[in-house]
Amino acid sequence: MDGVTTPDAASAVLILLGPPGAGKGTQARMLEEELGLVQLSTGDLLRAAVAAGTQAGKAARAVMEAGELVSDEIALAVLKDRLADADVAKGVILDGFPRTTVQAEALDTLLDQSGQRINAAISLEVDDSAMVTRISGRFTCGGCGEGYHDSFKPTEKTGVCDKCGSTDMKRRADDNAETVAARLDAYHTQTAPLIAYYDQKGALERVDAMGAIDDIARELGRIAKHAAA
Ligand code: AP5
Repeated sequence: MDGVTTPDAASAVLILLGPPGAGKGTQARMLEEELGLVQLSTGDLLRAAVAAGTQAGKAARAVMEAGELVSDEIALAVLKDRLADADVAKGVILDGFPRTTVQAEALDTLLDQSGQRINAAISLEVDDSAMVTRISGRFTCGGCGEGYHDSFKPTEKTGVCDKCGSTDMKRRADDNAETVAARLDAYHTQTAPLIAYYDQKGALERVDAMGAIDDIARELGRIAKHAAA
C-alpha cells in the first residue's frame, strides 16, 4: 500500500470507518483479542465522560442524544487523553475516530509527532436499511462491555454475559429510530468523505460488512496482519 508504512504490531494503528451499526465496535473487540491491540472508541470515551459528568461530558450529552457529532475539539481531547495511557503503546484500533476531515488531519499530525503511521483504514460497507435493525436490537454488558444483538448475536443464556457472567445489560440512549436517522445523516455528510481521504493516501481497505460477524472478522484479521507484516 503506497504511502502507508508497515510498522510492527507493537505500534500498529488501524482505523475502522463505517456508519452507525456497521459493526465497528463488534469487530474492534474481536481484533483486539486476536492481535493484542487496544480498541479505542471515542463513542465509549464520550459516554464515560457523560456518565462521569466531566466538562466534556456535559458539553457532549445533548449533542450525542440528538445523533449529531460532538465538536472536533472535544473528540480530539478525549482521544489525546486516552492515547497518553501506557497500554496503547502496543497499538490501537480506532473505532469511531476520525469522523471529520479536521479530525483526520489532526490524527496525521499526532502520529507524525510520535513517529507512527496508519497501517490501514478499513471501511465497513453496509446498507443503510440494515442499520435500524442492527441498532435497535443492540445491548451491551455493563460488566465487561461485550456487545450483543437480540437476533444476530444473542447471549447463550438469556440475560447473562457469555464473557464475564454479569447480568447488567445496557441499551444506549441514542439507539432509537429517530436518532439513528440523524447519525446516518452525520455519517454521510461528515464522515464518508474520509473514504476518499484514506484512498488518496493508499491506506484504504473496503470490506463488505453485510455478511456474518465471524466471516467479516476473518477478513479484517487478514487485512490487519497483512498491513502489519
Ligand atoms: P459511537 O459510539 O461511535 O456510535 P456509532 O458510530 O453510531 O456506531 P455504533 O456504536 O452505533 O455502531 P458500531 O459500528 O460500533 O456497531 P456495533 O458493532 O455496535 O458514537 C456515538 C456518538 O458519539 C456519535 O453519534 C457522536 O455524537 C459521538 N462521537 C463519537 N465519536 C465521535 C467523534 N470522533 N467525533 C464526533 N463525535 C463523536 O454493531 C451494532 C449491532 O449490530 C450490535 O448489536 C451487533 O451485535 C450487531 N452486528 C454487528 N455486526 C453485525 C453483522 N455483521 N451482522 C448482524 N449484526 C451485526
